[in-house]
Amino acid sequence: MSGGPRLQAPRGTFDVLPGDSPARLSLFNLCQGRLGGAGLQYTETPIFEDTELFARGVGEATDIVQKEMFTLEDRAGRSLTLRPEGTAGVCRAYVEHGMHKLPQPVRLWYWGPFFRHEAPQAGRYRQFNQIGAEALGSDDPSVDAELILLLAELLAEAGVRELRLRLSSLGTAEARRDYADELRAHLLAREDELSPEVRARIEANPLRAFDSAHAGTRAVLADAPRLLDRLTPEDAEHFAEVRALLDEAGLDYEVDPSLVRGLDYYTRTVFEFTSDALGAQSGVGGGGRYDGLVEQLGGPPTAGVGWAAGVERILLAAGGEPRRQAPPAVFVAWEDSRRTAFDLTRRLRQDGLTVQMEQAGRSLKGQLKHADRLRARFAAVVDDDGLELRDLRTGEARPVKTAADIVDAVRSP
Ligand code: HAM
Repeated sequence: MSGGPRLQAPRGTFDVLPGDSPARLSLFNLCQGRLGGAGLQYTETPIFEDTELFARGVGEATDIVQKEMFTLEDRAGRSLTLRPEGTAGVCRAYVEHGMHKLPQPVRLWYWGPFFRHEAPQAGRYRQFNQIGAEALGSDDPSVDAELILLLAELLAEAGVRELRLRLSSLGTAEARRDYADELRAHLLAREDELSPEVRARIEANPLRAFDSAHAGTRAVLADAPRLLDRLTPEDAEHFAEVRALLDEAGLDYEVDPSLVRGLDYYTRTVFEFTSDALGAQSGVGGGGRYDGLVEQLGGPPTAGVGWAAGVERILLAAGGEPRRQAPPAVFVAWEDSRRTAFDLTRRLRQDGLTVQMEQAGRSLKGQLKHADRLRARFAAVVDDDGLELRDLRTGEARPVKTAADIVDAVRSP
């Protein structure tokens, strides 16, 4: 076999190394406990979908659809896209499986990889993972407030530091269209003060101007009309109720009328959690209501609300030390008795103990040193004449006869 240049993972991707995995797994368990405990059911949808789903769902004019999708053609010439986000896929599944016939709202959560062709930097990857939650089939403001609180609790419990929540309402699609016309006129009147990117998007999506850090653009926006002042009475009331529920729960937030999200499906409530512990990519999680999305994907009129949070950003913002794997209860050491050692390991595991066995051909002395390094509580030393159990804390060694004797010794206080 000939070698070749050493290969590397593609730009913007990363490997989860053994030292990183305990924190990730405990975050997954935390989600399962908190979100499952609140009655959300775990779901998975495909990692690739028809490209049309995202074009229709996320919106043709968004950065995600225009610049960030990994799109490929299958052998039959169909266009497929690695999912850049999870809400469109969950809504597609809701329609495809007739979930509107289930008791509403249908409340789901997910965890998995997503793909965006962005310029990689700390906290921004081309393949990243999201935790998401979606509730379909209710426009009750208590669902918005409940999901926001769940995310706030999850992030706090995961140890995310310096957390802030911004909240706004985008109203209905019609109100937003009228507002977009009003804002477009305002921007066009002072076009020469705007950044070239904002100018290029005045026609397609003037609201994106609020995402710009450009000083001239910000000055023009400072006295622009505000969408929050243009809500219909029903939308304003909905937003007031969401806020009242959050106030009663004692959650801190800031109403930010300039909050626009990078996806087109939002209606009414939108929100974003940021952590000042992160650098430029400070968004830890965000979401909102999307009452028209299911219908847009061919389903019945269905209200929906949800959020997604970046797994890697949560772990970065929590800033935990890499944790070591939990130590085994027993390390099985052997020199000539592979089969006996293998069988003992299997039996001890059947009895529920955490066990590792020697597999690197170390000397007996080297094996005991390795067991210490793993912080094993006991070493079971196997040879053809018998079995010895060593307490690695006290150094005490004694002969034992069976696997059951070892189980008793480990379990005795
Ligand atoms: P999003 O704000 O685009 O929303 O993404 C949610 C979170 O994913 C972000 O706050 C961030 O933590 C993480 N994230 C996004 N892009 C990257 C990246 N390139 N690298 C690392 N992390 C990233 C959505 O995706 C919506 N589907 C949320 C939603 C659910 N709205 C309603 N339901």
